[in-house]
Amino acid sequence: MSVDGYIDDASPERLRLSSPADFDRVDGVRAGCDAILVGAGTVRADDPRLLVRSPVRRERRAARGLPPDLVKVTLTARGDLDPQARFFTTGSAPKLVYAASDAVPGLAARLDGVAEVIDAGDPVELPVLLADLARRGIRRLMVEGGTGVHTRFLTEGLADELHLVIVPFFVGDPLAPRFVHSGVFPQDSRHPMRLAEVTRIGDLTLLRYLLRASDRG
Ligand SMILES: NC(=O)c1ccc[n+]([C@@H]2O[C@H](COP(=O)([O-])OP(=O)(O)OC[C@H]3O[C@@H](n4cnc5c(N)ncnc54)[C@H](OP(=O)(O)O)[C@@H]3O)[C@@H](O)[C@H]2O)c1
Repeated sequence: MSVDGYIDDASPERLRLSSPADFDRVDGVRAGCDAILVGAGTVRADDPRLLVRSPVRRERRAARGLPPDLVKVTLTARGDLDPQARFFTTGSAPKLVYAASDAVPGLAARLDGVAEVIDAGDPVELPVLLADLARRGIRRLMVEGGTGVHTRFLTEGLADELHLVIVPFFVGDPLAPRFVHSGVFPQDSRHPMRLAEVTRIGDLTLLRYLLRASDRG
C-alpha cells in the first residue's frame, strides 16, 4: 500500500505499487502456499493471473509433488465473473469459486469447464469456505486482496499473518481503494499485533505481523 494507505488509484488501470524485487518476494511467498484467494472485485478490476512465475520455484514445487501453480480461489455474492478473465484462463491447477446460493446456477453454467462453483450459503461465510478448502487439502492460503476481502478476513480474525508492504509514495485520492474499509478489528489498541519482521526492499518496507492471540503472548 501507499504511505497514505491506498492499494490502487481511482483510474480504471491497475496501479503498479510494488517494485520488481518485491514482486519476486511475493512470488516466493506464493510458491510456499497451497492456494491463493482474491475477491471477485479484484478479478474484475485487475484481471490478475495469480501464477508462480519463477521457473525454478515451479520446478521445486513439482519436485515436491505439487502442481507448479497454486489452486486459485475467489468468492462472489453477485456472481458477476467472466470466464475469459485470466483468473480462469491461466494456470494448470483447479479454480474454485465460492458463491452465494442465489448466484450458483447461473455462474455454474457460465463457468462450466473452467472452474468449480461451490454453494457457500447466503451470505457466504468465510469459515465455511476455509473449512471446505481444508477438506481439499489446502493448508496454507495466501489472500491477496482487495479491500473488501482484506476487511472480511481481518475483522473476522481469520488471518495468521499480515504481510504489509509500504511503497514510498502517496496516492492522495479519497476515491481510491484503501487497504481496508472501516470495521471492528480484533487487533485494536488494546490487542496489537506482534511485529515479527521488518525487511527493507530498496525504498519499500515489508512489515510482517503475527495476528493470532497466542502469538501476542
Ligand atoms: N495493492 C494490492 O496489493 C492489491 C491487491 C488486490 C487488489 N487490489 C485492489 O483492490 C481493489 C478491489 O477491491 P474490492 O474491495 O473492490 O474487491 P475485492 O475485495 O477483491 O472483492 C470484493 C468482492 O468479493 C466478493 N465478496 C467479498 N466477501 C464476500 C462474501 N463474504 N461473500 C460473498 N462475496 C464476497 C464480492 O463480490 P461480488 O461483488 O461479485 O458479489 C465483493 O464485491 C482494486 O482496485 C484492486 O486493484 C490491490
